[in-house]
Amino acid sequence: MARRLTVLGTGYLGATHAACLAELGFEVLGLDTDPVRIDRLAAGKLPFFEPGLEDLLQAGLDRGLLRFTTSYAEVAAFADTHFVCVGTPQRSDGNAADLSQLRACIDELAPLLRSPCLVVGKCTVPVGTAEAVSQRLAQLAPAGPAAELAWNPEFLREGHAVRDTLHPGRIVAGTHSVRAAAVLREIYARQLADGTPFLITDFATAELVKVAANAFLATKISFINAMAEVCEATGADVTMLSAALSYDGRIGGSYLSPGLGFGGGCLPKDIRAFMARADELGVDQALSFLREVDAINMRRRARMVDLARELAGGAFEGRVVGVLGAAFKPNSDDIRDSPALDVAKTIHGLGARVTVYDPAAVENARQAHPELEYAATALDAARDAHIVLLLTEWPEFTDADPEILGKVVAKRNIVDGRGALDPERWRAASWHYRALGRP
Ligand code: UDX
Repeated sequence: MARRLTVLGTGYLGATHAACLAELGFEVLGLDTDPVRIDRLAAGKLPFFEPGLEDLLQAGLDRGLLRFTTSYAEVAAFADTHFVCVGTPQRSDGNAADLSQLRACIDELAPLLRSPCLVVGKCTVPVGTAEAVSQRLAQLAPAGPAAELAWNPEFLREGHAVRDTLHPGRIVAGTHSVRAAAVLREIYARQLADGTPFLITDFATAELVKVAANAFLATKISFINAMAEVCEATGADVTMLSAALSYDGRIGGSYLSPGLGFGGGCLPKDIRAFMARADELGVDQALSFLREVDAINMRRRARMVDLARELAGGAFEGRVVGVLGAAFKPNSDDIRDSPALDVAKTIHGLGARVTVYDPAAVENARQAHPELEYAATALDAARDAHIVLLLTEWPEFTDADPEILGKVVAKRNIVDGRGALDPERWRAASWHYRALGRP
């Protein structure tokens, strides 16, 4: 009989984890407190866009390996290993992480844990959280300390969630016992057989690996965007600079693409929560550079608005602006902290008529920003525009034909916010081409 597992929280992380565990042959019960989400998942519908995931979800349902519920009692009775994948967003009143979903989840689950079991935290949390959760579990569970905790951070990227889960770069597990490590080794047997490095650590190290990784990635992106600022002051080309740096094996080319910077549900909130936690721990100086990383990132958005204003002739009033891209990155419908939407919203606020098109994120964008106009195609977004802004590098935009787009605009002005277009091709088609960090 297949091993039974539960997954608590069916957001990005949880829905992916549940569908991938079923794909690996486990019998999985997913829980969420949102009944609408549970009904949709049970009907094979993903509440977000993720390439390949809906097929896995449907396959898991068809094979009878995947079910969903809103009942904690059902979850506790179903299995003895529970993955916690609830959200840990930024608090509305500051930079720290909001742990209310995690607390609520543990407080609901723990009193139902009557026999030895393993609770595996996967969400991104401030260092020190796992220790507190472990104590709370032991205190509230009738099983006492036999209701054990492990911390197993998740590194998946949106748009690559299935691949990153089935073929991760590494598996990290903070554990307190040999038994907990052995259970995780069994669950991840397929990945381990593929040679995936498996690192057993203490709780604090496991928690830190996740935030340190995201802090490093954010720093790398802001480093190249800081170079873009210097390029703008000197006439140098940051795209060539980045390409040249990438050949140095010590630096590497990934996360070195200059442009509008990072957004999404992880990088921005994770570096802020990391700084907030460092403050509490009295090591704020150690992470003060992350304040600069955040500031460089936000300055790219302001610079983008300035470039667009220059092309608009100094002011946005009465101007029509076509925006290509709303998602925080391509292959996603996620608009959380999206640099693209932030720029679109700002330019609208400065008096332009802004029409946005995105291949996947229009509905989410419309809900969050009903004040903007939305189009059903890139050509419609660009129609009669005085300026076109490329803000998310979907292939549909980077492959666009400058002649075809040129026929519908009022003026051939384009600002490339992602360094994704070939300037010569666009200039050859009589476009006034500007880009962040490029002459
Ligand atoms: C990130 C981490 O990569 C992942 O390991 C973690 O689990 C969650 O956070 P994700 O938010 O899906 O994943 O996005 P990612 O692909 O890392 O991109 C983050 C942002 O950085 C995007 O806005 C992207 O456009 C931007 N980016 C990325 C750059 O601006 N330049 C780059 O070179 C790379």
